[in-house]
Amino acid sequence: MSSFPRPAEGTWTEHYPELGTGFVPFEDSISPAFYELEREAIFRRAWLNVGRIDDLPRNGTWFTKDLAAAGTSLLVTRGMDGEVRAFHNVCRHRGNKLVWIGSPRDEAAGAGRQFVCKYHGWRYGLEGSCTYVHQQNEFFDIEKSTLGLAAVHCDVFAGFIFVNLADPPSQTLREYLGPMVGALEDYPFDQLTERYSFRAENRSNWKIFLDAFQEYYHVPPLHTHQLGPVQRNPETEFEAAHYQLDGPHRVVSTSGSHKHRFPTEYLYPSEALFRSGNMGPWEAPDLEGARNGVNPGGVKSWGIDNFQIFPNLEVLVYERNWYLSYRFWPTSHNTHVFDADLWFTPSKTARERLAREYAAITVKEYALQDAGTLDGTQLGLESRAFADFPLNDQEILVRHFHKSVNDWVREHEQRSAGAAR
Ligand code: FES
Ligand SMILES: [Fe+2]
Repeated sequence: MSSFPRPAEGTWTEHYPELGTGFVPFEDSISPAFYELEREAIFRRAWLNVGRIDDLPRNGTWFTKDLAAAGTSLLVTRGMDGEVRAFHNVCRHRGNKLVWIGSPRDEAAGAGRQFVCKYHGWRYGLEGSCTYVHQQNEFFDIEKSTLGLAAVHCDVFAGFIFVNLADPPSQTLREYLGPMVGALEDYPFDQLTERYSFRAENRSNWKIFLDAFQEYYHVPPLHTHQLGPVQRNPETEFEAAHYQLDGPHRVVSTSGSHKHRFPTEYLYPSEALFRSGNMGPWEAPDLEGARNGVNPGGVKSWGIDNFQIFPNLEVLVYERNWYLSYRFWPTSHNTHVFDADLWFTPSKTARERLAREYAAITVKEYALQDAGTLDGTQLGLESRAFADFPLNDQEILVRHFHKSVNDWVREHEQRSAGAAR
């Protein structure tokens, strides 16, 4: 059980006085100029999760990841030595995008021992070294061993592959993640290998969609079907029972809606048939270590931990022994790409498989309900009809997220100003 002090009295927000309780401006979500600052201050400085070790299943596998916000494409490889490395996906000769399949604008994945540039045929190994220069004797004083790919700092935490474009990063990955997220290292993510993925291009600032997953205040009006016969009890229903902040990271724990305990009239017939829903399959598989690092507030009727790992990764760990990851990748000040993955233990029976398929479909349906508000919120904010907005106690993480983003941008500006002097 966590020793984290729950507020003896007062509110969650007042428990963190640095957050204040005033109205919050969302200029950071509508300003093209702020987005440019964010790209430098956050997406070129923070540790970013670009995939799972499951994306590199064997030595000699690789994938590319386009980071529009950071203005680059990365090549992530698992060498024959098992080491995971990341590079700018750019040829050292004349700067061609090195690895792509079909279109240079699409991400790709594959397996092999070397990468051949499509332009003049230079080759590179999985470790980033240049292994072949076509007609090398035509060049002037070049040394192949100095012409490798540009490496990017890369580290793996609990199977999550992170990169950092700062050189050098100001903190190691584990220092950056801190103790609250760091505790997840003992959670058995490696046992959850059955994956269901979806991706959407959304018309809003990346933070606006992230905000929709940081509070449960919207659940009763927006996801009406979530609610069961018992309401407004944070220990048993869909209201958050614990909030915790650690550096720029956040977690909210909730009991969720335990549909498997609901009377049939509160269920869709298909939920009762598949015995599954957006909280996952009702039958939880055995999973050793499934309580490691989770439920830091010791919530009695614990259902979900929603870890928000700065800046743009969300990991939701469910009491039914599965997890969900969301990544929000900005593509402009008012558009982003949303990547979602659900992870389960491998299905042993057809019924288990169907229950997982059904969970994936239901999660997608609920995410669509959330996404349905995005365009409207973005348009409303862009009208600048109001300069700032009231946030309630259940929206503490929204308050903390925007403060963290603004703090990072301001600190970066101060550093840059200091360096220019
Ligand atoms: S740009 Fe890659 S070999 Fe010339
Ligand atoms: Fe929602």
